[in-house]
Amino acid sequence: MEIELRVANQSDLPDLIALDAECFPPGNSDLEPAPQGEIEAGVEEGNIFAAAVNQKVVGMLQLEKVSSNEWELLTLAITSGHRGQAIGKALMERLFVELSQSPYLVAVSCLTSPNNEAMQGLLESFGFVQVGLIPDYFGPGKHRLKFQLN
Ligand SMILES: CC(C)(COP(=O)(O)OP(=O)(O)OC[C@H]1O[C@@H](n2cnc3c(N)ncnc32)[C@H](O)[C@@H]1OP(=O)(O)O)[C@@H](O)C(=O)NCCC(=O)NCCS
Repeated sequence: MEIELRVANQSDLPDLIALDAECFPPGNSDLEPAPQGEIEAGVEEGNIFAAAVNQKVVGMLQLEKVSSNEWELLTLAITSGHRGQAIGKALMERLFVELSQSPYLVAVSCLTSPNNEAMQGLLESFGFVQVGLIPDYFGPGKHRLKFQLN
């Protein structure tokens, strides 16, 4: 299986929005959908990487460059039929290419649910460490673990 990784463009928007809706369904306190307009802004800024298989978008990673040396990994999402096929890993490796091109030493943070073992496993495999728990981050009962890569 060949995975194509590229910076997402305007024509990817419908696929990215559909992917977000599939991966972060309403009513699941462990999975928070992107706020209105966030994906559009990410495409505009060139901060979303898309993974495509046979020209179909199957995964996305969105970064927020909070400052020159402080980035946040906002979203990583792989369509359910393509999970466990190293696509998330490939998108994380693309993030590391981006990091290697920065002239600054960048700290990257990421929030994920304490119940999201797949995301925690993926982050830890890339050297992220847990730095704290933020209770009720997205509302009552929606706690988030903060991971950081320094
Ligand atoms: C989390 C997610 C992005 C992982 O993507 P993926 O493409 O399935 O992951 P990969 O196949 O690249 O796996 C890479 C590593 O992640 C970890 N991992 C992936 N799935 C895992 C699982 N179910 N349980 C534990 N660790 C897991 C492992 O360390 C794995 O490495 P290994 O295969 O060498 O053991 C994917 O499950 C997903 O989109 N989930 C729904 C949305 C979501 O939770 N996003 C994160 C929100 S913060």
